[in-house]
Amino acid sequence: MPDSILFAAGTEMLASGAGIVAAGTGPVFDVSTMNPASPSTESIRFLFIVVTAASVFILAVVWGVLFYSLARFRRRRALQNAGDKSKPTEPPQVYGSMPIEIAWTVAPGLIVFLLTLVIVRTEFEVRQERQPKDAKVLNVTVIGHQWWWEYIVDQDDSKPIGFVTANELHVPVSTAEQLRPIYLSLRSADVCHSFWVPRLAGKTDLIPGRENTMWFNTTEPGLYVGQCAEYCGTQHANMLLRVYVESEEDFQKWLAAEKKTAVEDPAMREGQAAFLAESCINCHTIRGTPAAGKFGPDLTHFAARETFAGCMIKLTHDNLHKWIKDPQDEKAGCLMPAFGLDERKVDLITDYLMSLK
Ligand code: CUA
Repeated sequence: MPDSILFAAGTEMLASGAGIVAAGTGPVFDVSTMNPASPSTESIRFLFIVVTAASVFILAVVWGVLFYSLARFRRRRALQNAGDKSKPTEPPQVYGSMPIEIAWTVAPGLIVFLLTLVIVRTEFEVRQERQPKDAKVLNVTVIGHQWWWEYIVDQDDSKPIGFVTANELHVPVSTAEQLRPIYLSLRSADVCHSFWVPRLAGKTDLIPGRENTMWFNTTEPGLYVGQCAEYCGTQHANMLLRVYVESEEDFQKWLAAEKKTAVEDPAMREGQAAFLAESCINCHTIRGTPAAGKFGPDLTHFAARETFAGCMIKLTHDNLHKWIKDPQDEKAGCLMPAFGLDERKVDLITDYLMSLK
């Protein structure tokens, strides 16, 4: 019997570990800045390699001269060379040599100048504000919250869109025929955050009271993960984000689905009533219902996402049930309190939210 209890405990731990998507036993994602998938991250990698190569070269020269001098002018050898074995000769002492002074002023000056040119070029490439010709641009406003991301999809190819979603962003892939850059406006609802998807773009801060911008585009479809890169409080490490880069067709399907108001499933009436009767509606919006809170994530198409709680927890019926019962147990310090709902209410609300595809 002790064996089976141990086994049960083991699987229980595994199961709860699997709930966390970006760590533990979850799938492993490529977040290497050395494997860029967008022109701006490509420039950043190039800059990194150039600066590292220049630094290694300088280090090699300095250490070369240092070790050469240590060996060449060591005491034993100086003693051997001296006629009188008790008095070592000194190497020639050089003071105020013009050629040497010029060499070690001009060489570093040149290196700094060349690095400055490369850095300025990278800055221009990364912060490129001008719109490439024939590009269909997607404009998204990103708002950082403790500890999740709000996205307002503003405009696609100059068509106003204007819906709100959270944590998981879908964007179109660029192809040889059609460039699809994504322009982000970054704001914060509370403290400083930083939007960072390592393979798609460099970090850009979200600062209260100001708007920053960034852009990226990629020809490689797939799921890119990232996370907040500026310490923003207790759950900073669990402020994760996901960017799904999809074909134009899939992306348009996502846009169309997200624009709609929430599904009205007659079988979910009771769950919806339970949700609307609780304080949930003070913080969450479900478009098409009276719930219009702005403080927490928009839940209109909640069940269409793969994760929740700032992309920290895999979206399953079980995980959501635990979350609604006591969010503090799952993500300590998060701004959603436990409301002490009875088991039946938690069941109803979980079923209702899981129906919001
Ligand atoms: Cu948001 Cu760290």
